[in-house]
Amino acid sequence: MKPSLKPINPNFSSGPCTKRPGYNISALNLDSLGRSHRSALGKARLQKAIDETTRLLDLPDGYKVGIVPGSDTGAMEMAMWSLLGQRPVDIFSWESFGAGWVTDVTKQLKLEDTRSFVANYGDIPDFSQAKPEHDIIFTWNGTTSGVKVKDADWISDKRGGLTICDATSAVFAMDIDWTKIDVATFSWQKVLGGEGAHGMLILSPRAVERLESYTPSWPLPKIFRLTSKGQLIDGIFQGATINTPSMLCVEDYLDALNWIGEIGGLSAAITKSEANLAVLAKYVNDNAWIDFLAANEDICSNTSVCLQLKATDEQIKAIIKLLANEKVAFDIGAYKDAPSGLRIWCGATVEKTDLVALLPWLTWAYEQVIE
Ligand SMILES: Cc1ncc(COP(=O)(O)O)c(C=O)c1O
Repeated sequence: MKPSLKPINPNFSSGPCTKRPGYNISALNLDSLGRSHRSALGKARLQKAIDETTRLLDLPDGYKVGIVPGSDTGAMEMAMWSLLGQRPVDIFSWESFGAGWVTDVTKQLKLEDTRSFVANYGDIPDFSQAKPEHDIIFTWNGTTSGVKVKDADWISDKRGGLTICDATSAVFAMDIDWTKIDVATFSWQKVLGGEGAHGMLILSPRAVERLESYTPSWPLPKIFRLTSKGQLIDGIFQGATINTPSMLCVEDYLDALNWIGEIGGLSAAITKSEANLAVLAKYVNDNAWIDFLAANEDICSNTSVCLQLKATDEQIKAIIKLLANEKVAFDIGAYKDAPSGLRIWCGATVEKTDLVALLPWLTWAYEQVIE
């Protein structure tokens, strides 16, 4: 039977992710719009975004947070172009974004002393291969396969190399041991439901030390430059962005950070996301025709939850279309390069009640298409 109750919010996309519950654009503080981002007001708003990120994530002393161009991709490429080349690099990849970083390192930067550890969609590579003397690149949560790292215990506390982590669909949703991370990047449009615009670059003191003691042999465009005359450009980490940011996006980000504080901070955001995953886990357990793409529970993402169905590609497309037509779920198809299936975002901006309301529709759509 066709269900009657619909999710109040049918936005389950894995990026840009749904806005926080209660989001209202008219509540944004617009005083900084139309002003110079280098005015006292503009810089104060950018500094607040940095300070609140640092506080809410409870970053260790000495870690720096910068707002950089080009969203998560910009932040990751800026880090790789600025830091790599001094040591051998170990890259771990298990879905398309991680594969993109392998391409950057091997085909664009053309580094020769590299080792790539690649797993198929649903699996995760063997992290015990990582050498502490090498630089290490990995993704905390593979958004397109729904596979996350279990933890960072495999990273040595005594490492000589740097760890560079694309954490865009994990920050504010997963417990990250920051002492194991030298560089982390994320964007506003994922877990926080912010706007796609700027990237966040988090640096440990060891990453700063590398930046100040090593200069790559290749040219760096201005947009990537983190140092000047061998010194870190501190301004980038104090709200003096490299180039002009969107203050509207900054205000939207501040609204999202404020909301994280209101719901109880980082741990509440993580708990909410895990509770969302639990709703899907029960459904998967109760229905033989649907399963996680992730090979086991330990590595199953609690944000970008990828699901495989006993159905053909065409049938899956039909299910997705039916759900969108009914306005109960938008943008839940698997990523274009991933095995076909569903991908349902479960970060904290998604309400559990909406997931609960969605599932009978999923059963209904499946039965419509398959039977
Ligand atoms: C793991 C991962 N890395 C990088 C990106 C690219 O992010 P952006 O579009 O914010 O640059 C995404 C986007 O979905 C992602 O999921």
